[in-house]
Amino acid sequence: MRSQLYVPGNNEKMVRKSVGIQADSVVFDLEDAVPQQDKENARKLLGSLLEELDWGKRRLCVRVNPTYTMDYYRDVLWVSEQDKVGCVVVPEAEDGLLSLYRTTGKDVEPLVETARGLMKVEDLVRQEGVFAVSFGSADLALSMGGEASTLANQYVRTAVVVAARAYGVEALDRVFFDLKDVEGFEAECRWAKGLGYSGKQVIHPSQVEVANQVFSPSKDELEWARKVVELYEAHAKQGRGALRIDDKLVDAVHYRMAKRLLESYG
Ligand code: COA
Ligand code: MG
Repeated sequence: MRSQLYVPGNNEKMVRKSVGIQADSVVFDLEDAVPQQDKENARKLLGSLLEELDWGKRRLCVRVNPTYTMDYYRDVLWVSEQDKVGCVVVPEAEDGLLSLYRTTGKDVEPLVETARGLMKVEDLVRQEGVFAVSFGSADLALSMGGEASTLANQYVRTAVVVAARAYGVEALDRVFFDLKDVEGFEAECRWAKGLGYSGKQVIHPSQVEVANQVFSPSKDELEWARKVVELYEAHAKQGRGALRIDDKLVDAVHYRMAKRLLESYG
């Protein structure tokens, strides 16, 4: 999932609009984007729109309310009956993921949004049924008493992606809130990609295309990979395992990286 788009679950116009947006995954939010008095209406509205509209092959998810609320239980009952929804996104995740997976039969994507969630990130991602993980810097700031921009730091990002990769789970980078700062958004996508993230959570149609583009290999990257595979294989036959390509060292690890890229996208 290069892009995972949040859509407020009580907003009919945006839910309808999301059908035509090229996000790899859509998350209908029942949590922070829906005011308390609208929760029940949102479930009803979403239920009928999910049935009515043609969602194609994209991965549909629902973000439920936190496990310590009554609405969590209402959401879980409701989502377990939504055949088109394949995944439940869990805010402020700390525990309870296995029973959620077993009772709903849906894949689970925890959000690391509390100090405890971050301390327990390995336990979260190793649970049966967990297929992806992300983190939320605003909630983390609330939990830590800090600031969202500061908490989107190298430590938090690295801890989440290392745990994810250790257990074969997809890591998606946090939401970027400044809709006008296109350059900042793109730079953050590139940083996350460099750390091993496979995509980004997004909140607006304008962010989808940038995320899809950054998290796909570029023409240059594919060209580099083809060149490395061709030259490395030719030289290896003559007993050379280290060579100079475009003034950079290439050896077996670079060859393996190039092969992996071509196998996934070439
Ligand atoms: N999903 C689907 N459509 C969306 C959308 C979204 N997340 N965000 C905006 N749109 C649509 C708008 O409906 C509008 O459609 P139109 O041109 O047909 O009228 C168009 O895209 C342009 O939207 P814009 O006017 O720029 O957005 P806004 O200023 O009204 O709203 C936000 C900005 C941030 C409030 C809105 O993008 C949003 O609600 N995002 C999701 C928030 C969310 O779910 N948060 C929870 C997780 S952090
Ligand atoms: Mg939240």
